[in-house]
Amino acid sequence: MQTITSIRLLRNALSPLRNAGRSIGLVPTMGYLHEGHARLVSTAREQNDVVVVSIFVNPLQFGPNEDFAQYPRDLHHDEQMLTALGCDFIFAPSVNEMYPEPAVTVVDLPEMGQVLCGRTRPIHFRGVATVVSKLLHIVQPDKAYFGQKDGQQLAIILRMVQDLNLPLAIVGVPTVRESDGLAKSSRNIFLSVQDRPHATVLYRALQVARDDIEAGQRFAAEVMAHMAALISAEPTVRLDYAEAVDARTLQPLSVLSGTVMLAVAAYVGKTRLIDNIVLPLPPIDSPDIP
Ligand code: PAF
Repeated sequence: MQTITSIRLLRNALSPLRNAGRSIGLVPTMGYLHEGHARLVSTAREQNDVVVVSIFVNPLQFGPNEDFAQYPRDLHHDEQMLTALGCDFIFAPSVNEMYPEPAVTVVDLPEMGQVLCGRTRPIHFRGVATVVSKLLHIVQPDKAYFGQKDGQQLAIILRMVQDLNLPLAIVGVPTVRESDGLAKSSRNIFLSVQDRPHATVLYRALQVARDDIEAGQRFAAEVMAHMAALISAEPTVRLDYAEAVDARTLQPLSVLSGTVMLAVAAYVGKTRLIDNIVLPLPPIDSPDIP
């Protein structure tokens, strides 16, 4: 495995492999890798001849009051983990390598980026779409891998790739959870020992909502209110949102049908966590709907 920090050297390394017909899988990350990332990398390893993992904490996706400087970083640990997972190349550019000048060209999907997490993080998804677009142009992979845990991000990237006719497949990889259901996230390390047990309320709320829907509930407002009540009642937890949206467009639904994303976000102590599940439901005019 090689760690490469320059765009030119990465392109030089990949181009003969691509020309020899080797398939390339890219896993974009911000480092500080955990089991959720490991699942992305092993899926990429199974499906490609060459695996590239990018590690770049992208300043463009952090708001002025967000944790860019505090975001956890540990390249040495990441290198050890990626060696064990059979990664071929780590691409770990500096901020100056990725943005030698402030980005004037950006990729923005405002309808999808200003909802859910975008309401409190208005520039976040523009930063994500811009850096992912750059990484896809730099690496030119056949497939790129993203976690379902960041469901809004995955939907936005799928749409960006469709709208810009980018020649690759985006693979969504299921969320990896702790044994008590908490979704794995680099931010979990910020949870205090006292707050950690309360963090499971996000997944519990999603499961209760799924039970409601399986029992026949189709009114989004009822499902959302149930999730919000559960999360708000949890000690040390402050609800950000609990919503039911169309999983492809991220637009709100009043009646639940088609592919639905239940998405929640909350502050557990000072740490903001997100989670979601996607449910394929019968279309609205189906005789199965009570
Ligand atoms: O999910 C992440 O880690 C980041 O948003 C991504 C996709 C690597 C872009 O910086």
